[in-house]
Amino acid sequence: MKKILEINNLKKNFRTERIFFGSNKIIKAVDDVFFSINSGEICALVGESGSGKTTIARCIAGLETFDSGSILFKGTPLIFKTKEERRKIQYIFQDTYNSLNPRMRIDDTISEPIKYHFEIKGQKLNEEVNKLLKKVGLNESFRKKFPHELSGGQRQRIVIARALSLKPELIIADEPVSNLDVSIQAQILQLFLELNIKDKITFLFITHDLRIVYNLADYVIVMKDGKIVEQGQTQKIYSKPQSDYTQNLLYSIPASPFKN
Ligand SMILES: Nc1ncnc2c1ncn2[C@@H]1O[C@H](COP(=O)(O)OP(=O)(O)O)[C@@H](O)[C@H]1O
Ligand SMILES: [Mg+2]
Repeated sequence: MKKILEINNLKKNFRTERIFFGSNKIIKAVDDVFFSINSGEICALVGESGSGKTTIARCIAGLETFDSGSILFKGTPLIFKTKEERRKIQYIFQDTYNSLNPRMRIDDTISEPIKYHFEIKGQKLNEEVNKLLKKVGLNESFRKKFPHELSGGQRQRIVIARALSLKPELIIADEPVSNLDVSIQAQILQLFLELNIKDKITFLFITHDLRIVYNLADYVIVMKDGKIVEQGQTQKIYSKPQSDYTQNLLYSIPASPFKN
């Protein structure tokens, strides 16, 4: 199977400020990480808070520099990619409220990036915005609205529509449903699955919550303290977790089907 993303020896340290007479502390946020994602798959990156998931995501999205290692997108280091190619990687954040401009109507939120990247306008742009809203399960009436008029789930759908407007091949979704009610979570996860199956979009799905991974991901990567603890096909990780850490993550799930 073709690899869409390859990460080799990735390292990223943060240096904390000195407090009083203490010394500077170096946090190894990402510590020699290797993994790859097959094109067309959903890869889950899981681990407790502070394990380095977001830092990896930000490095892939080009929002953070890294100290060493490489990130290849479709075989080429990201640093050599043009803006046009980088558009094929989109990043969805947990915090939908801050992801959307509060003063911008949904219409502009979705159409601005299309105008910028594809030089589409007029009736064609109009149709494109409607098509994207429909794809994420919303109707045309949402175009006139502002972010504060929407529910959390609706805002996340708009964020997804905006990401889709750029015709991404890889979407990094960083805790995309963690702020949502359980029933809404299920709907958004279903949307991700549909986009994966129908539109063949590859996902790096980041979560601290292993409950949502089982029915979603093809492959699971487990992180702790900046390092990968284990990785493998979802079935394998769930049926035969190799490390105590993964077992604890699985067994701490309330009413877990994996509890012995
Ligand atoms: N900008 C930053 N400055 C200093 N430390 C940071 C910064 N961003 C993240 N960290 C630290 O790096 C580690 C990994 O953080 P993060 O990647 O956000 O983990 P996760 O997304 O798994 O919760 C944590 O110890 C966090 O405090
Ligand atoms: Mg995070």
